[in-house]
Amino acid sequence: MKDLKHCNLKDLYIDFFVRHNHKQIPSAPLVPENDPSVLFNTAGMQPLIPYLMGQAHPYGTRLCNYQKCLRTTDLDEIGDATHHTFFEMLGNWSLGDYFKDESISWSFEFLTKDLEIPVERLAVTVFKGNDLIPFDEVSFNKWLSLGIPKERIAKTEKDNFWIAGESGPCGPDTEIFYFRSNEEIPEKFDPDDERWVEIWNNVFMQYHKASDGTITELPKKNVDTGMGVERTTAILEGVNDNYQSSIWLDVIKEIEDITNLPYEGNEKSMRIIADHLRTAVFISADYAGIKPSNTDQGYILRRLIRRAIRHAKKLNIDINSNWEERIVKIIINKYAGYYQELKDNETTVYEVLRNEKIKFNRTLEKGLREFEKVVKNNNQIDDVTAFHLYDTFGFPIELTMELAAERNISVDVEGFKKRFKEHQELSRTASAGKFKGGLAGNGEIETKYHTATHLLNAALKVVVANTVHQKGSNITSERMRFDFSCDHKLSEEEIKKTEDLVNEWINDGLDVTVKEMPKTEALNSGAECMFIEKYPDMVTVYSIGDISKELCGGPHVKNTKELGHFKIIKEESSSAGVRRIKAVLEN
Ligand code: ALA
Repeated sequence: MKDLKHCNLKDLYIDFFVRHNHKQIPSAPLVPENDPSVLFNTAGMQPLIPYLMGQAHPYGTRLCNYQKCLRTTDLDEIGDATHHTFFEMLGNWSLGDYFKDESISWSFEFLTKDLEIPVERLAVTVFKGNDLIPFDEVSFNKWLSLGIPKERIAKTEKDNFWIAGESGPCGPDTEIFYFRSNEEIPEKFDPDDERWVEIWNNVFMQYHKASDGTITELPKKNVDTGMGVERTTAILEGVNDNYQSSIWLDVIKEIEDITNLPYEGNEKSMRIIADHLRTAVFISADYAGIKPSNTDQGYILRRLIRRAIRHAKKLNIDINSNWEERIVKIIINKYAGYYQELKDNETTVYEVLRNEKIKFNRTLEKGLREFEKVVKNNNQIDDVTAFHLYDTFGFPIELTMELAAERNISVDVEGFKKRFKEHQELSRTASAGKFKGGLAGNGEIETKYHTATHLLNAALKVVVANTVHQKGSNITSERMRFDFSCDHKLSEEEIKKTEDLVNEWINDGLDVTVKEMPKTEALNSGAECMFIEKYPDMVTVYSIGDISKELCGGPHVKNTKELGHFKIIKEESSSAGVRRIKAVLEN
């Protein structure tokens, strides 16, 4: 197989697809610029959704890249040999250009010729078919024609239909597996046999699934593929532990030097430190300027850094030394040639990590002692203790859960969440009070704009399309700005109708009411929700008469009459597939 000593997988991949007339597109930022529905990019196709939906891409119809991705769903698994939070995904796309035939041929050629993987180590799955979509015979026959024996082509349904989340562009896929074991290769391929690992996924995106489950054909047939850099590199280098591949070796070596401990026997903590610091580097280097905090991306960043610190402590690292800087330096040097933000924001990255470290280290020791004290006399961490550890010692709940799991004791997580919520509400009320006191007038107008935002969102659904969704919002005391998904420039008539409808609702004097309910109940009742990746919790839902219902933290006016006259002052493009409206409220 290809020796990666003097080249690397990313370069080989891009080289291959550029040779096959693909244009290399830049890796999109880790923090999506125009898609508030996810905290981080989770797949190479994510930034391409508008183009998979039919919009023309400025680079043409054949694209390829390496994309920074981050998935938090596997966070608890980090520490094993194959999982990562941040990873790089290699992808090639056809936007209504080639389809199954070329896609499969090129995948096969790249794997067997460029990467020199022996055919007998490969197996594939294809879509078996269901009531809605037929068996993917074309892919099946294509693999056969390339020399994959039929025993090595599994027809499955469950894992052969790909969609990012619940709705959006999707389609049947064919997944390519590699036999990662020195044992004899079984003649018949069983996708559940863990010695076979998936290395590449080719999705034939020809459908769109709406949120109500309806499947329609996309205007064009596309191809979306994804190959994980970490896993494939490990395979090519013949190691079963991703952290023993060239991607990680020098990082692990540095951790061994810092701790004076061998990797063997300390794998879990060393992998967690390596993985979490790499991810923290990429989040804090992103041009979005994310800092550790208690919400959204900032919270993930905080959790990762704090968990890495906890494991550093487990390995007896002197937290006050520059250990994290030594590790981060290696990571930055390794990736800076590919990602400019690592060069531009290198100092920021060191600062973010150092500051968070100093902050957490002040309370970590005490918190750990407190934890030990509690578990001596209890076999459960109750809600009060969990919240105390969070509030006083800065222990993210997940950290308390991890510590507890190591002792085989449970944590009252639900109770914690309730306390957390109460605490949030208290501080919200407190800061709202402060806001009003300090900036009389401003708070009021902004509250009005907030309610007007809900009305505008509802009106656009009626006038333009019920597929319109909020993509962003920004309010100042002067105006409101609202970004929403929409594939066309609004006509004069649409703008006028939207404006009129909002004003009609204002004049109707609709009551604004608020209710607390479990998140699932809120979503089932059809409430609008902009961020899907928030922890399951009780949520507040604001309703305006019966025309709008949204998950929202408020504040809002009591009755729409308070808003005055609504006027749209600008309608423009915000980004691909996203339009922007600026509007004002007049007396
Ligand atoms: N979007 C596909 C995946 O993530 C290729 O597997």
